[in-house]
Amino acid sequence: MKCPFSPTNTSLAIVASALASQSRAQCPDYTSYAQIPHDPRSTGPLALPYMRPTPACRTFNSTAVEKVITDMKSLLKDPDLARLFENTFPNTLDTTVKYFNQSENLAFIITGFMHYQALFAVDPKLATLVKAVINNEARYVAQYPYCGAFQPPPESGLAPSHNVWADGVTVNPPVDNRTVFECKYELDSLCGFLKLSRSYYNATKDASFMNANWQAAVDQIFRVINEQAQGTFDANFNLISYYNWTGGHGALSPMVSNQGNGEPKAYTGLVGTHHRPSDDLSVFAFLTPANAMLSVELSNLAEILDSAGKLHNVSQQARDWSSRIYDAIWRTTVVDDIFAYETNGFGGRYVMDDANVPSLMSLPYLGFLDKQHPTYIATRKILFSRQNPYYSAGKTFNGIGGPHIDPWHPWPMSHISAIFGTDNDEEILESLYVIANNTNGLGLIHESQSIYDPSSYTRSWFAWANSYFAEMILDLADRRPGLILKENKSYKPTLMAFNNQA
Ligand SMILES: *[C@@H]1O[C@H](CO)[C@@H](O)[C@H](O)[C@H]1NC(C)=O
Ligand SMILES: *[C@@H]1O[C@H](CO)[C@@H](O)[C@H](O)[C@H]1NC(C)=O
Ligand SMILES: *[C@@H]1O[C@H](CO)[C@@H](O)[C@H](O)[C@H]1NC(C)=O
Ligand SMILES: *[C@@H]1O[C@H](CO)[C@@H](O)[C@H](O)[C@H]1NC(C)=O
Ligand SMILES: *[C@@H]1O[C@H](CO)[C@@H](O)[C@H](O)[C@H]1NC(C)=O
Ligand SMILES: *[C@@H]1O[C@H](CO)[C@@H](O)[C@H](O)[C@H]1NC(C)=O
Ligand SMILES: *[C@@H]1O[C@H](CO)[C@@H](O)[C@H](O)[C@H]1NC(C)=O
Ligand SMILES: *[C@@H]1O[C@H](CO)[C@@H](O)[C@H](O)[C@H]1NC(C)=O
Repeated sequence: MKCPFSPTNTSLAIVASALASQSRAQCPDYTSYAQIPHDPRSTGPLALPYMRPTPACRTFNSTAVEKVITDMKSLLKDPDLARLFENTFPNTLDTTVKYFNQSENLAFIITGFMHYQALFAVDPKLATLVKAVINNEARYVAQYPYCGAFQPPPESGLAPSHNVWADGVTVNPPVDNRTVFECKYELDSLCGFLKLSRSYYNATKDASFMNANWQAAVDQIFRVINEQAQGTFDANFNLISYYNWTGGHGALSPMVSNQGNGEPKAYTGLVGTHHRPSDDLSVFAFLTPANAMLSVELSNLAEILDSAGKLHNVSQQARDWSSRIYDAIWRTTVVDDIFAYETNGFGGRYVMDDANVPSLMSLPYLGFLDKQHPTYIATRKILFSRQNPYYSAGKTFNGIGGPHIDPWHPWPMSHISAIFGTDNDEEILESLYVIANNTNGLGLIHESQSIYDPSSYTRSWFAWANSYFAEMILDLADRRPGLILKENKSYKPTLMAFNNQA
C-alpha cells in the first residue's frame, strides 16, 4: 500500500485530499481516468489513446505549452511517440496545480516543473506560477528544512489531510501536522528547490523571488548541510543527532535503526540523507547522486546570487561546499572507476542504482559530469547488468527499479535517465521503445512495470515520470533531431515565435 502522492520526487512533495475545486467537482479523478484508454487512438502500431483531461478539467492552461504540443505533433516521425508527447508534456499542468493565487504569490502543485523551463521565458503566466511555487516551497523549507511532504497553504482553504503513515512516528525536531504531511528527510528535496530557483532565474532574470522567505529557506539549507555532513560521533564519542525519525507503526518505511538515526556515518565532506529520492530508507547515509546534484546546484546558486548582486556571504559558502562535496565524491565513492550509490565514510560502499532521480544513471542529466566521462561509462555498464541488484530483465521489459516496489518491477524512468546519458543512437532508440512499448496500452509513463507480465504496473498517474519523459523527448529534438523528427533540424521551444499571451 502506498501513498498516492508519496514524495518520489526531486521537488518537495505536496499532498492534498480536497483536490477538486467547486467548479471542477464534475471532473473524474485522474488516477481512475488514467486507467482507461480514451479515443482517438494514434495511427502508429501501438495505437495509443488520448489521455489529456477535457479542457474544463485541466488545472492550468498555458498557450506556450499548447504551442509546443502542436509543433511537436507535426515534427515527430512516429505518431505513437507524438501521442506519448502530447499526453505527457502537459500532464503536470493538466492535473497537478491544486491552488494558484498570483497576488498572494502562492501555488500548490504536487510535482516538478523542469520540463517547462524553456517556456518560463516565453510564457509570463507560467513564469508567475513557477515563482509562486518557489515562494510556497520557500515557506516550508524555511520552517521545516528536514521535511519533504507538506499540507496545502492555509490561504488555499484546502483542508490538511490526515496521514495515517505518520501516526505514532516520532520525529525530532517535532513538526506541526497542519503544515507537514510527513517529515522524512531527503537531501534531494532541498536540491530540487535550488534547481527550480536557478531555472526560474536563468529563464527570466527576475530576482524578485529572492525575498525574505527565500533567503530564510537558503539559510536553513545551509543549516542542514552543516548538520548532516557531521559524523555520528564527535572525538569523545558523544552522539551527534540533529534530526531523527523513527518510522515503524503505520509508516511506509520500516523502523529506523539506532533510535531513528539510521546507520552510523563518518565525516568525508559529503552530506548525509535519511531517505532516498524514492522515499525508501537509505542503507548508508552518503547518497552519491544526491550529493552530485547538491554540488551542481550549490555552484548554480552561487552564480545566480552573484549575477543578481545578492548575499555574497551565501554565494561564498555555496562555492566552498560545492567543491568540498565534488572532491569528496571523487575521493571517497569511486573504486576501480565505479561509483558507489551509497557510502558511510568508514569504507562501506553499496554498488547499485535506484531508478529515482537523482540516480547514478542520471549523473549527466544532473550536470555533474559529461556523458563521455570514462567513470560514468564504466558505471553505466554495471548499472544495466546483473551486477546491479536492482536491475532485472524479461521478454518485454527491463531496467532498473528499487526497493520502493521490488526488484522485478523496473521503472521506465531508468531508461529516460539512460537516454540523457548517451549519444549512441542505437542505445537511445532501444531505451525509447522499451518505454513506448510498455505503457500497457495507456499512453502514459508509469512508475514501475513487471518484467513477467505486461499488464502489471504501478501508478497509472505518475506526473513526475510523464514530465521527465517529455523533457527527454524535447532534449532529443534538440540534440538528436534526425533520430525522432521528420527533418534533421534541431527544435527548441524557446525559439518559437511568440505572441498572444493569455
Ligand atoms: C482552461 O481552459 C478551459 C477552456 O478551454 C476552461 O474550461 C478551464 O476552466 C481552464 N482552466 C483553468 C484552470 O483556468
Ligand atoms: C487571491 O488572494 C487575495 C488575497 O488573499 C484575494 O483577495 C483574492 O480574491 C484571491 N484571488 C483569487 C483568484 O482567488
Ligand atoms: C494532527 O495531530 C493531532 C494529534 O495527534 C490529531 O488529532 C489531528 O487529527 C492531526 N491532524 C491531521 C490533519 O492529521
Ligand atoms: C533526536 O534529535 C534531537 C534533536 O532534534 C536530539 O536532541 C536528540 O538527542 C536525538 N535523539 C536521539 C535518540 O538521537
Ligand atoms: C540557462 O538557460 C540556457 C538557455 O535556456 C540553458 O542552455 C542553460 O543550460 C541554462 N543554465 C542553467 C544553469 O540553468
Ligand atoms: C548571510 O548574511 C545575512 C545578513 O547579511 C544573514 O541574514 C544570513 O543568515 C547569512 N547567510 C548565511 C548562509 O550565512
Ligand atoms: C517494440 O515493439 C515493436 C512492435 O511489437 C517491436 O518490433 C520492437 O522490437 C519493440 N522494441 C523494443 C525495444 O522492445
Ligand atoms: C543529422 O545531422 C547530423 C549533422 O548535422 C549528422 O551527424 C547526423 O548523422 C544526422 N542524423 C540523421 C539521422 O540523419
